Amino acid sequence: MDVIVQAARLADAAADAVVLNLFEGVKQPGGATGAVDAALGGAISRLIDTGDFTGKLNQTAVLYPAAPATPAAPVGRSAEGGVAAQRVVLVGLGTHEEFTTDRVRQVAATAARKARDLGARSLATIVHGAGIGGLAPREAAQALVEGSLLGLYRFDRLRSSPDDDDAAKRLERLTIVELDTQKVPEIEAGVTRGRILAESTTFARDLSTEPANRLTPRALAEAARTVASEVGLRCEVLEPPQIAALEMGAFMGVAQGSDEPAQFIILEHAPEGTDDQPPVVLCGKAVTFDTGGISIKPHEGMWQMKDDMAGGAAVLGAMRALALLHVPRRTIGLIPATENMPSGHAIRPGDVLRAMDGQTIEIISTDAEGRLILADALAFAHRYRPAALVDVATLTGAVVTALGHGVAGVMGNDEDVVDRLRTAARQTGEKVWELPLWDDAYKRIIKSDIADMKNSGGRPAGAIAGGMLLKRFAKDVPWAHVDIAGVSWADHDSPYTPKGATGFGVRLLAAFVASYTGQP
Ligand code: BES
Ligand code: MN
Ligand code: ZN
Repeated sequence: MDVIVQAARLADAAADAVVLNLFEGVKQPGGATGAVDAALGGAISRLIDTGDFTGKLNQTAVLYPAAPATPAAPVGRSAEGGVAAQRVVLVGLGTHEEFTTDRVRQVAATAARKARDLGARSLATIVHGAGIGGLAPREAAQALVEGSLLGLYRFDRLRSSPDDDDAAKRLERLTIVELDTQKVPEIEAGVTRGRILAESTTFARDLSTEPANRLTPRALAEAARTVASEVGLRCEVLEPPQIAALEMGAFMGVAQGSDEPAQFIILEHAPEGTDDQPPVVLCGKAVTFDTGGISIKPHEGMWQMKDDMAGGAAVLGAMRALALLHVPRRTIGLIPATENMPSGHAIRPGDVLRAMDGQTIEIISTDAEGRLILADALAFAHRYRPAALVDVATLTGAVVTALGHGVAGVMGNDEDVVDRLRTAARQTGEKVWELPLWDDAYKRIIKSDIADMKNSGGRPAGAIAGGMLLKRFAKDVPWAHVDIAGVSWADHDSPYTPKGATGFGVRLLAAFVASYTGQP
C-alpha cells in the first residue's frame, strides 16, 4: 500500500473514504471533525445528539455526503463547502483521560478495516492524537501507520485464486492529511518509521503463518539470507557439521529426530563505527514444527505448532527493522532452527545431552525442546561478550495458564534488562509481565538426580522452570527471557492484530535495542 502525506483540508481530500475521530463525551466536535461536521450540515452533531455515536473506543459510523452539485467538479476539490470523498468514516477514540498511543494504533486499524470492508480503495485520514490528543506528530503518525498496516494484514499467498471477498477489497492508498504544513516533516518521519516497523512485523507474521512443509529450517535460513542482503545485515548460517564441531549437544539432540538438517542462523547489524561495541544479542527459538518428539503432543491443535518458530521470526523481523532504521547500536541475532520430530533416531526421555558450555541436561520430556536449543544459543552468545542478552521463545504452555493470550512472560537475571523490556513494551503496546527466577524458591525444580539439571520440572511453575534452565546458560551476562507462547498466535481478530500470527516481539525488540542508543 502507498502511504503519502499531504498538507490539505480533509474535506478536500480525493479518496473513497475519509476518516475522522471523536473523543467520548464530546458534544461539539472541533478541529477537522468540526470542519467536516459543518461541511455536512451538522450531520455529525446529529449523530452525537441522538446518542447514536458516543465516541466509545473503536466505535464506527459511516456518513455519505451529498453528491457534488456539478458532476464535473475537479477531482480533489469539494463542491461548495462539501466533502470531496464518497464516505466519511467516524471512529471513536474513547475518553480523553484514557487516551494512549496504542489507541491511535487501534482506531487507525479499525477505520482502515472498516473502509476496506466497505470496498474503498483509497483512504484519507487525519493523524489521530496529534490534535487535542496531545501526542507529538511524529509519534502519532508512526502509530497511525503501524495500526493501519498491521490491521489490514492478510496472508493470501497460498490461495490459488483470491478469496471472493478479499479479491475486490484492497486498500491501495493511504493519504495522511495535515492542515499545518509545519507538522508535515515530523509526520513524514513518523510514517517512515511506522512503515518499517509494521512491515518487519508482517514479515514475521508471514514466516509464522507459513506451514512447516514450506518453512523448513533451511527455508528459514534462506529467508534470513535474503532479507539480510536486502537490508544490509551480515548473515552466516552454520550447517550440521559446524554445529557438531561447536559441540552444541543440546541443539543437536533436538535436531537428531528430524530428516531436515538443523541450521544455526547468525545475523549482525553493525552500523559504521560500532564494530567494537559490545553488542546487544537477541536469540529466537525457531522450532519450525514441534510434534513434541517421542513425548508426542495430542493431535488436537497440533497444527498450530508450525508457529513454534515465532521467536526466531521476531528476532529476524527486529533485525530487519534495526537495519532499515539505521539504529546506531551493534546487534547480533542468533536463531537456532530445527524441527522436533519423533523417529527411530530421536532423543528419548531419560537421555542426557551435553551443551556447548559442558553442562549436562537430563531429558524428562522431549517436548521441552525449546530450552534445549536456546541453551546452546545462549552459550554461543558468550563469545560476543554481550552488553545485554535477550531470548524470545514460544517456550511453555504454562505461561498461557499464568498470563493468558494478551501478555508475554518476562524473566531475567538483571533488573536493568527487564526494565528496558518493560519500557519498550509500554511504547509498543506489546504487554509483558515479570515472573520471578528466585534460586531459593525454584532452583530445585530442575534438579536432576544424574545430570547438572533436567529439562522439565513437571506442572508447578512451568514457565519459570523454563526460565530457570535458561538462566543457567546466560550465567553472568545481563539477560532476560520473553516467553511468547500465549501471544504469538491470536485466535480472534482485534483491531491491529487480525486472527492468526501476531508478529509479537518485532517492535518490542527493536524498541529494546533502541534504548541502548539514547535515542527514541
Ligand atoms: N512449543 C511448546 C510450547 C507451547 C505450547 C507454545 C502451547 C504455544 C502453545 C513447547 O515446546 C512445549 O511443548 N513446552 C512444554 C514444556 C513441558 C513439557 C515442560 C509444555 O508447555 O507443555
Ligand atoms: Mn515442545
Ligand atoms: Zn516448542
